Amino acid sequence: MKKTILVTSLIVSLLTLVSCGKETIASRATKKGLEIGTAYASDIFDPEGQERIKEFSNILVAENFMKCANLRPNAKFWNWSDIDHSIEFAEKNNIQMKFHTMFWHQQNSSFINNMKSKEEALEIMDNHIITIMDHLKGKIKVYDVVNEMFEEDGSFRKSIWYNLLGEEYIAHALTVASEHNSGAKLYLNEYNNECVGYPKADAMYNFVKSLKEKGVPIDGVGMQLHLSTDLPFDPDAIRANCKRYADIGIEISFSEVDVRLPASKFKDPEEIKKQEYIYTTLLDIALTEPNVKSFIVWGMYDRTSWVPATFGGYGNACIYDVEYNKKPVYEAMFEQLK
Ligand code: G3I
Repeated sequence: MKKTILVTSLIVSLLTLVSCGKETIASRATKKGLEIGTAYASDIFDPEGQERIKEFSNILVAENFMKCANLRPNAKFWNWSDIDHSIEFAEKNNIQMKFHTMFWHQQNSSFINNMKSKEEALEIMDNHIITIMDHLKGKIKVYDVVNEMFEEDGSFRKSIWYNLLGEEYIAHALTVASEHNSGAKLYLNEYNNECVGYPKADAMYNFVKSLKEKGVPIDGVGMQLHLSTDLPFDPDAIRANCKRYADIGIEISFSEVDVRLPASKFKDPEEIKKQEYIYTTLLDIALTEPNVKSFIVWGMYDRTSWVPATFGGYGNACIYDVEYNKKPVYEAMFEQLK
């Protein structure tokens, strides 16, 4: 009798193991209610890349496919193929999608850069929002409606949208998006906006607060968090910023996290530890501040990371190395999500 019970419970444990599959960062984060994921590029078309994406992500965002110049190379043509392919992959694997980004000062097609009047800008803006939201109805969890709207000193960035429509373009875009929305969250996304006390961060907070007070529909703020091991890192100021947004009912995404190292220190154990400390401290904030909903890295993989091309002499910013091997930071985050 005892033997039968033992054999039965062994079989059940084995079946449970098989049916649950291997635990991953993605599965552990899902259990904890945290959206975790990555920006993807061509890795979404590569079988090895797809496996790594599944292991790491329960939410995905296109590094470039959704930006205006890619999606809408001219006023008449919409290039949906890469986005549709990604959505199909995501749906098949139970992964959510984020849209990045509707309006930005970079990666715009020439018909956007050549807009001349307020009327033309409004028409193009509304059409952009409505076409995207109609095509992607029910398939997107979060939209970055506007990206990088501030200068470092806290003034508004003089983008083509600002120049033709004034700061009102942001409230207008959010309002039109909300009228065509089907359950997605509407975000503004920015870099260098994570620390309380920094001019750009304070300007953004005050602006978002004023939008809330006026009843403009906004759900969240993205903090990109492109960080470096040789720059100051102030987790208390980041946590305090998340908390003040919580107080006004705004959720936060850590939306483009990466932590670069100077090339001269790629193999320096202290620097590697510092990188791990920064990633895990951010993850800790995401796990303990209830309004922080997501932790998204800007590419998982050093081979295709945008970092070396932009910051000469820096790199190794991702969680997987150039061969898709997990770095110690992966294991540290995996443990943290237990
Ligand atoms: O697609 C063209 C290709 O046809 C051409 O041959 C090649 C030659 O340079 O360029 C390719 O386009 C590049 C594109 O990435 C796709 O690889 C652009 O030159 C390059 O500028 C573009 O860089 C992207 C950058 O945004 C554009 O400003 C990076 O991959 C992307 O990681 C980066 O992402 C931004 C976020 O959207 C917003 N926050 C900051 C973040 C990092 O800059």
